[in-house]
Amino acid sequence: MLVFTWRVANMTLESLRFLRKQYFQLLPVAQLQWPDSQVLKQPHVQTWLFHNLFDSEVLNYPPPQRYQLRVLKLLVSKLEAGIEDPDEDELSDDLTCALCSLLAANLPSEVVSAQRKSYVTYSWDLTRQPEGRQEEDPGGCEFSITLLESPSLISSSGTTGLRTWEAALHLATFLATTPKGRRYVGAKRMLELGAGTGLVSVLCAKYLGTASVVATDGDAGVVEGLGTNAFVNELAGGEGPGEGQKMEANVLKWGRTLLGNAILDDEDRAPFDLVLGADVTYDTAVIPALVATLVELRHRSRPESSPLVVLLAATIRNQTTFATFERACAPLARLALYLNLLPCPFSANSAPSWP
Ligand SMILES: C[S@@+](CC[C@H](N)C(=O)[O-])C[C@H]1O[C@@H](n2cnc3c(N)ncnc32)[C@H](O)[C@@H]1O
Repeated sequence: MLVFTWRVANMTLESLRFLRKQYFQLLPVAQLQWPDSQVLKQPHVQTWLFHNLFDSEVLNYPPPQRYQLRVLKLLVSKLEAGIEDPDEDELSDDLTCALCSLLAANLPSEVVSAQRKSYVTYSWDLTRQPEGRQEEDPGGCEFSITLLESPSLISSSGTTGLRTWEAALHLATFLATTPKGRRYVGAKRMLELGAGTGLVSVLCAKYLGTASVVATDGDAGVVEGLGTNAFVNELAGGEGPGEGQKMEANVLKWGRTLLGNAILDDEDRAPFDLVLGADVTYDTAVIPALVATLVELRHRSRPESSPLVVLLAATIRNQTTFATFERACAPLARLALYLNLLPCPFSANSAPSWP
């Protein structure tokens, strides 16, 4: 992502970077947080906005054009409203040209656009630390993950794995931004269940120093998407099958035996030290199968050298469903460590937002 910081004061830059983060995460336009119009109309701020949000020549994974158009129209209306002296305050030529070319483009309808896959970029600004946490600063940098997903689809083609869910954002934020989270993943052989778009696996493979990462899902189409997202984040292999691969994607249907599953039998990756799952406990019908898979993974682990740890993040939509899951897990006592949604320990500005 281009960082165009020239002549932009620190405070302004912070609010612009926050806006950019929300924009690349495709937050609803009405939820975007804009700097004041006195700030927006400054020529160098308009230049920053053009280069960082709308310059199609340099942005690798821009939002869908329909979304760009909505945001740019709103920006221009804010700029026009802020003009006090037409001789002094000007709308930048670059922004005007970007708006004209989006208006002239043959864009798909809103409905069609909502069905299409889009690039969504999630970022964690680890330079921002709440007071008192400086010493525990695990990074001092920005983590950025781009996923090709269908953010508007709750469920389609029999799976809920085509978009990223809130639980994955919370689990990823916990792992990325807390020393405890970092300790869980560092140098571990990790397996993710029901990985969906792969946010958690990509984060672990790209930034968190795992020894190996296998992202799995029960849906073959979702697994294909996991491969694409590994590629987008430069985690796919170089030459030859599996060569240099930092994140493997594989089908794993809960409740089916793991015997004969090539990656799960691969000595470089398995047995696993850590199993992660986000939003996988939402359906009482599949809970027995999920628990059966956890039991089998425990049997295949190395309890003497590296006891298996399981971290699950759950959005509790229905207390009864979650209680069913907790009861089903009773035989796993001391194996599983459950994470309910943790309050994000960092300021909202540092982690991805949830609409
Ligand atoms: C709500 S989505 C969560 C996706 C991702 N973890 C996230 O939080 O963004 C649940 C995921 O579990 C997968 N899943 C559901 N039932 C499954 C099963 N029986 N075996 C394997 N995966 C399953 C779905 O395909 C889907 O990707």
